Amino acid sequence: MRSIELQGAGGTSLIALGLPISSVPDLCQGKKIAVITDGNVYGFHGDRFPECSTIKIGTGEKEKTLDTVHRIYETFLSLELDRSSFVVGIGGGIVCDIAGFAASTYLRGLPFGFVPTTLLSQVDASVGGKNGVNFQGYKNLIGTFNQPQFVLCDFRLLRTLPKAEVKNGLAEVIKHALIGDRDLLSLLEKERENILSLQEDTIEEIVHSSLEVKVDIVSRDEKEGGERRKLNFGHTFGHAIEKTMGLSHGEAVSIGMVMEARLSMSKGLLTVHDVHRIKDMLKEYGLPTAAALDRESVIDAVGKDKKRENQDIHCVLLDGIGASRIERVKLQELAEAFDDLCEHC
Ligand code: GLY
Repeated sequence: MRSIELQGAGGTSLIALGLPISSVPDLCQGKKIAVITDGNVYGFHGDRFPECSTIKIGTGEKEKTLDTVHRIYETFLSLELDRSSFVVGIGGGIVCDIAGFAASTYLRGLPFGFVPTTLLSQVDASVGGKNGVNFQGYKNLIGTFNQPQFVLCDFRLLRTLPKAEVKNGLAEVIKHALIGDRDLLSLLEKERENILSLQEDTIEEIVHSSLEVKVDIVSRDEKEGGERRKLNFGHTFGHAIEKTMGLSHGEAVSIGMVMEARLSMSKGLLTVHDVHRIKDMLKEYGLPTAAALDRESVIDAVGKDKKRENQDIHCVLLDGIGASRIERVKLQELAEAFDDLCEHC
């Protein structure tokens, strides 16, 4: 078992890797627990949940609303939760985002922790203190920055994941390697078979390295004033592609990473060899590196992204493999470069 500590403004978050889900009551210090999960996760893992009240929400992005939070508050009230209680979100990113938001706002803040059950939520969503819900079609418009007291990553929970879901998580691991850890990239190249077969020690190794990149960035810029934007590498185009093409998050971010690597190359920060290495790696993990994109709709969606400031986009560029920087790029420049960024993808 390994652990990482994230020091946030409101306290320390303990990230425990390789600990079994049965350790949740200890991490909650014997307090009264209310679990928030979804029916899918409960069906797979409910028999290993702690003995406590369990609030089940529906599955999918459509659940990430204030209505769902309203129903959770009602249950908190009927369970008579108070500040000595503990809320635990067990599930993927959507469950963690909603559980963290409900806990952060009820009674001005209950302590909470997460047991992420997808690779994507282990390496990204559950760590870093962003909690929230969507509003009127805008993703994560309502939310808080508030760190969970703990994040428990039990790698046995990943065994029930469909392959497509594992790939979603791997896209974010590759992103972390590209922006901050070239050794992690080499490990991903070397250990592909063990990783794809979810061999636990290797998964622990890549989740640990991945989270060290994220935690290092978040501890310097918890509220995304600058440095934290680096975590958006591949997401400027990725979010736009996800929205317009209906691809999964990981697939869209994979194509976005190739385009943003090409943008970095056009600015002299990456070599052709680096871009090929990135594409080869994504392909090896079964992630797409190109799609027939409609320039107008993708650029339109990029322009509506929250990373925009007036006509400038805060783009994350790779400064060699394993290093990154943020540069403001005009939306017009991205539109003009679009065909080159897609070319040879
Ligand atoms: N997923 C990006 C962040 O946590 O800032």
